[in-house]
Amino acid sequence: MSSSADKVSAKPRPTIKAVRGTRDLLPDQTPLWNHVESTARAIFSRYGFGEIRTPVFEDTSLFSRSVGEETDIVSKEMFTWEDRARAASEKAQSLTLRPESTAGTVRAYIEHKLGESGALQKLYYIGPQFRRERPQRGRYRQFWQIGAEVIGPPSSGSESPLRDAEILEMLSSYLDALGITNWTLQLNSVGSSEDRARYNAALRDALAPIKDKLTPDNQRRAETNPLRVLDSKDDQDQALIAALPKIADFLSAESRVHFDAVLAALDACSVPYTLNPRLVRGLDYYTRTTFEFTVPSGDASGLGTQNAILGGGRYDGLSEMLGGPRAPGIGFAIGEDRLILTLQALHASGAPHLASEMWAGKKLDAYIAPLSPAQNPVALALARELRAAGLSIEVGEGTFKLRKSFDIADSLARHIILLGEDEVATNTLTVKTFATAEQTKVARAELFSKLRH
Ligand code: HAM
Repeated sequence: MSSSADKVSAKPRPTIKAVRGTRDLLPDQTPLWNHVESTARAIFSRYGFGEIRTPVFEDTSLFSRSVGEETDIVSKEMFTWEDRARAASEKAQSLTLRPESTAGTVRAYIEHKLGESGALQKLYYIGPQFRRERPQRGRYRQFWQIGAEVIGPPSSGSESPLRDAEILEMLSSYLDALGITNWTLQLNSVGSSEDRARYNAALRDALAPIKDKLTPDNQRRAETNPLRVLDSKDDQDQALIAALPKIADFLSAESRVHFDAVLAALDACSVPYTLNPRLVRGLDYYTRTTFEFTVPSGDASGLGTQNAILGGGRYDGLSEMLGGPRAPGIGFAIGEDRLILTLQALHASGAPHLASEMWAGKKLDAYIAPLSPAQNPVALALARELRAAGLSIEVGEGTFKLRKSFDIADSLARHIILLGEDEVATNTLTVKTFATAEQTKVARAELFSKLRH
């Protein structure tokens, strides 16, 4: 008899899909993500990094003051909303889903007075970031970053070029450990904030006569923040940008010496790099060293045009920009989605550098097949015992035909355990090992050691 509730639910309802630019990572994908993350944790901890977890949303002004009003990120890409006041006395607050994690990490450094111990802080994070960009391969609206920041009072050595080189050496070791060897480290210095001010003035002068030929956004930036004109992805802008002055010609002697010391330390550790005088990066807080690791673009790398797998640099004035004490720092963020795409492309091209379970998931130790519903409770009790001993177990269902149980077990597990009336009565189980097709009777007491291998 069908009720009226059944009739209502029989009407098909529109399905709800993941929001544009976001995606689900299913169990056949997550082993690779976990591997990339656990390798990062293991390697970063060898360099003395500890994990920091900051909130996924922050006060909007945190990003406008650090990343910069004129950047693409702040001017176009943030997910921002007014958090309504709950009481008449409270003001509504503008909140934003974090588009990056350096600002939040430095806010936490200031808020928790981490500089007061005088020690260098080495912090890393793994988590989602949000930017309203046009989605394409390797570019999402929710994406993951694995990042790290080294920050502290100048007396902690936070300004030393050694720190820059150590970060870059750590990244090269990390990528090598993952089996990504086709990277190029692009390196530049954008100078101190004074060097940047002189460079910005020169850019403003050079842009004034050609301003009308730029796209409207860049006409405005040519006056307000000329450095950001260099981020333009427009072909016509790019042709004009090629003829503009280069930051390298505006570095002070001090900035030059710092950069040369970074290069010398990289040479000493045999980390290869390519100097790229146009690498200014799309965020305002950078000073001195800036860098990106790229892989070849195109289908072979799995990334199409989004071939920067990570980026970073120094931000010696960021803490002060956020009202904190002087605390020079340097850090990076790896685009985890892009790292995964690169690994998948390497795998597809036959590079045998990662264990097979990264791609197909790991098989369970055993599948218990109760031969009739009467054995279901015993099967669950046996599973409980074996799981408690550390084995991974799936339990079938007594109504399944034997053929079906074998098929499911073969796809999920290394062994099948048959559990019928006889087995329960004699306390002896029938175990088949799929790899060898061997089927034996095993005493209950021997079961654990049989399944372990
Ligand atoms: P960023 O260059 O904006 O730097 O981002 C770092 C990396 O995140 C990029 O190289 C890219 O791999 C990845 N990424 C950025 N946007 C997307 C997206 N829409 N979809 C997928 N991946 C993306 C920063 O975020 C700085 N906070 C890095 C830093 C840390 N600098 C100093 N410390």
